[in-house]
Parts: sequence; C-alpha cells; structure tokens
Amino acid sequence: MSTFGDAPALRHPAQATTLPGFPPGVEPGQVLKEQPWYKWHAPYDEIRSVQTDRLGTVQDLIALALDAARPGPLKAVSICSGQARDLLPMLINHPRGHDVAVRMIELEPLNASFLYGALGSTDLTDVEVVVADAGLTDAYLGAVPADLVLVTGPFANIGADDLQRTVRMLPQLCAPGAVVVWSTYGAGLSELDALLAAFGATGFTEMTLVKPGSVDSSQPSAVIATGDEDLDGELFEGGEFAAGAHRFEGTPLDLVPGERLFTFRL
Ligand SMILES: C[S@@+](CC[C@H](N)C(=O)[O-])C[C@H]1O[C@@H](n2cnc3c(N)ncnc32)[C@H](O)[C@@H]1O
Repeated sequence: MSTFGDAPALRHPAQATTLPGFPPGVEPGQVLKEQPWYKWHAPYDEIRSVQTDRLGTVQDLIALALDAARPGPLKAVSICSGQARDLLPMLINHPRGHDVAVRMIELEPLNASFLYGALGSTDLTDVEVVVADAGLTDAYLGAVPADLVLVTGPFANIGADDLQRTVRMLPQLCAPGAVVVWSTYGAGLSELDALLAAFGATGFTEMTLVKPGSVDSSQPSAVIATGDEDLDGELFEGGEFAAGAHRFEGTPLDLVPGERLFTFRL
C-alpha cells in the first residue's frame, strides 16, 4: 500500500526469502518498456567511465556523511534515486548503513523495479521504494526530517529558478545537522556558482566540494548511447561534473504538503 496518495510504495520485507509478486509500480500483466532513464544507468556498469567517476565521488561523499552522523537510528531520502547505484552499496557496506531508514523516490517503474530486485539480495530491512514525483513535497510525507538527503542528478535537469527553489525548500526535508549530498553535470554546471550561493544563503555550510576537473577522467572507456538525443548529448559531454556535501546548520521547516520543489526537464 502507498504511504501517500495513489502512488505505489513498498517497504522491503524484513528477512524475506521470496519477493512478493510484483515490484512497486508494476501491475500483473504489465509489460515494462526500457526507457531512456533506464539506459542512462548503463555506463555505471563499465569498468571506467565518466559516470563511474561521478558515482565513486558521490559514494565517497555519502561515506563522509555517514562517518560524521550522530549515533543511533538515521533517516535518509533519495530525490530521483534512479537505480540507487550510489546509495544502495553504501547502505550495504558502510558500518552505519543498517542504521538508516531510507525512502528512495523514483518516477520510472522500471528503475524502481531494478532497485527493488537489487534490494532482494540484501539484508537491508528499512528501505522503501516509492514510485512518485520527487518534485512534490507529498513524496516526502512520513520520511522526513532526514539526516541524509541525496540530490544526485536533479540539479542537472531542472531550470535555474527550480534549482533556487529546491535549495530554499531543503530545510523542509532536513533534520538539524543533516547532510545534503548532491551532484550536477552537463548544463547544470553553468549554475554551479548559483547553487553554492543558494546553499550558503539557506543555512548550509560546505563540508566537501568536488569541482569539475578535480577527478581525472582523461581515459574514460566509451560510454553507451541510449538512442535518446537529449540524454546522449548529456552522456557525451565529457567528464565534467561537480559534487558536494553540505551540512544544514539552519532551522528546519515543517514539510508543507502540496508544494512543488522542481519540475524535471526530460
Ligand atoms: C539523472 S538520473 C539520476 C539517478 C541517480 N540519482 C544517480 O545519480 O545515479 C535522474 C533520475 O530521476 C528520475 N526522475 C525523473 N523525473 C523524476 C521525478 N519527477 N520524480 C522522481 N524521479 C524522477 C529518472 O527516471 C532518473 O532515474
């Protein structure tokens, strides 16, 4: 059952030996077509690609956040989680990973299904996969305030105004001292200075910043084309990305249902 609205949600069953019939967002008999945001994840499977460099950096930042986290149970949300290639391995392998109750919010059912299947071979018991629009505050009801907020990808795919609004609304998602781990790339890099300024103006302090060019991506293996013009343009733009971890030192705000943080461009 969904925890909000009509969007399907699934809490991964504790100690499950078999998965229930259908992953989240999938009806019996429904055929899931491969779509661009599914193929977008393919370069993560390469030995070395621009995307694996970014993934490794984001994982380092998540480790930093978990290393610094207060003792006891923690909460996390992943905004536009995709297949959670970044967070899931950290939950499995980091000493604090099993302390974290997570909501992963992803719009595409096939990505959510992939993630759901991956969860099935872990012993994580408090990871929730939600098929929903992460640009709406409703998607976060019951999952925040969070100690870790993952924003990996959205900043590269929303307009400048949405970027400002999203950062300004992050205090609705953050517990005191929360860490926001983010990444951006491609067209999103033109907004990097504005993004950093918005964090500063909203009560966040920089823990770590990885700027474009900091990671040596000079020898990436060939990336895989998805066949989608917009996404392929993004894939072939090169190794430039930025990522960071920012700690929230402001005053948390109550989550206001029905508000929009951003609208995804694609
Ligand atoms: C750029 S990918 C990032 C995935 C993951 N965070 C990563 O960095 O590997 C963006 C993801 O957001 C999903 N997405 C697009 N619009 C969305 C929305 N409104 N709400 C939730 N997810 C969305 C896409 O399906 C895609 O999986």
